[in-house]
Amino acid sequence: MKTYAALILAAGRGSRFGSEVPKQYADLSGRPVITHAMTALSDHPRITHIQPVIHPDDTEAFSNAVGYLDVSMPVFGGQTRQESVHLGLEALVTLKPDFVLIHDGARPNVSKSTIDRVIEALEHGAKGAIPGIGISDTLKRLGEHAEIIETISRTKIVRAQTPQGFHFQSLLDAHRQGKALSLTDDSAIMEHSGETVIVVDGDEDNIKITEAEDLNRISETMLETRTGIGFDVHRFGPGGGIKLGGIMIPMDKALIGHSDADVVLHAATDAILGAIGDADIGFHFPPSNNKYADADSKKFMLFAMERLKAYSGSLIHLDLTIICEHPKITPHRHEIRRSIACTANVTPSRISVKATTTEGLGFTGRGEGIACQAVATVKSLALDDHPHSETITSK
Ligand code: CTP
Ligand code: MG
Repeated sequence: MKTYAALILAAGRGSRFGSEVPKQYADLSGRPVITHAMTALSDHPRITHIQPVIHPDDTEAFSNAVGYLDVSMPVFGGQTRQESVHLGLEALVTLKPDFVLIHDGARPNVSKSTIDRVIEALEHGAKGAIPGIGISDTLKRLGEHAEIIETISRTKIVRAQTPQGFHFQSLLDAHRQGKALSLTDDSAIMEHSGETVIVVDGDEDNIKITEAEDLNRISETMLETRTGIGFDVHRFGPGGGIKLGGIMIPMDKALIGHSDADVVLHAATDAILGAIGDADIGFHFPPSNNKYADADSKKFMLFAMERLKAYSGSLIHLDLTIICEHPKITPHRHEIRRSIACTANVTPSRISVKATTTEGLGFTGRGEGIACQAVATVKSLALDDHPHSETITSK
């Protein structure tokens, strides 16, 4: 099987981005931009070796960004992108992979399928393959004073992205011979040495961060829609009212629990935690801890919302079904909805409260307690570890 290595280029200064921290180390949803880029390449099953190319001023920023990722010691890049690539390739000489993928460290949202297409073209015999995107707008060439000089045909024109994949030895030879040239990407240097480079489909979301606003644009594209489910039950005991969704409902009984026994907020909290894969209410607020005795369950829901926010997330919709014979929920539906919406800091249109009986069957039918089911739909990042676990109080 052919072997694949990847160069992650991060030796640029990001002058157009214009911040003190170079753009590849800017925070993107809780992680440096370059960490997203390295993760995407190192997660690919065919890529077995990652070689970062960094600027000497960034050694500390890089070691913070690399975290637990399995990548090689970085090498230092040069004055131009071309020089940086050449230095990175020389660092791979002893490894001598069959192919090398060159990827911009400032391009954090490359999908597995884009990498697959590049690799597939190389497997089918191409010496070079790059992802490209067609252009739908009409192209104009301008003169000195922004006046149009000509209209350029957009057919057969693409915007080149990365990762750009090449036969390793051919690209190394081209770089060694083309030192005097100044070319902006690697396919240009291969084209110059007479090799054919194939263009495969790129991806609009594979944005290279260039200007500051690109960071916001990309944060949006990295969010995904996720669903979580929650379920809770509390039994009745003596008392004079119950809490449901944060409001007090008068009754000749109470719900029994370690906290205020708000079965609705408990189910809702678990649904939100479930959507981000972040354990459950009992893990974060153990009943064995007396601190949570009689706690207001709004606190649990606020906690889940904080965790969601740490994943750059937001609540799209929460659908609740309260299961009981008594009390009747309909007269309280709007107030419960508004109360939960207020706690979650969303509009009531994002909260749905339904109720059902179980036709006299089971523990709810016998009036022994109340159950609640919840389904939360959220937009959030899919991260393997929690980005701010140290700064959010839990446990
Ligand atoms: N790059 C590099 N070495 C250089 C110049 C650029 O490794 N001497 C890398 C950048 O870090 C980036 C990629 O090449 O990941 C694409 O370059 P570009 O977007 O132009 O980044 P910068 O050169 O950093 O930005 P600017 O041109 O705005 O200064
Ligand atoms: Mg540049």
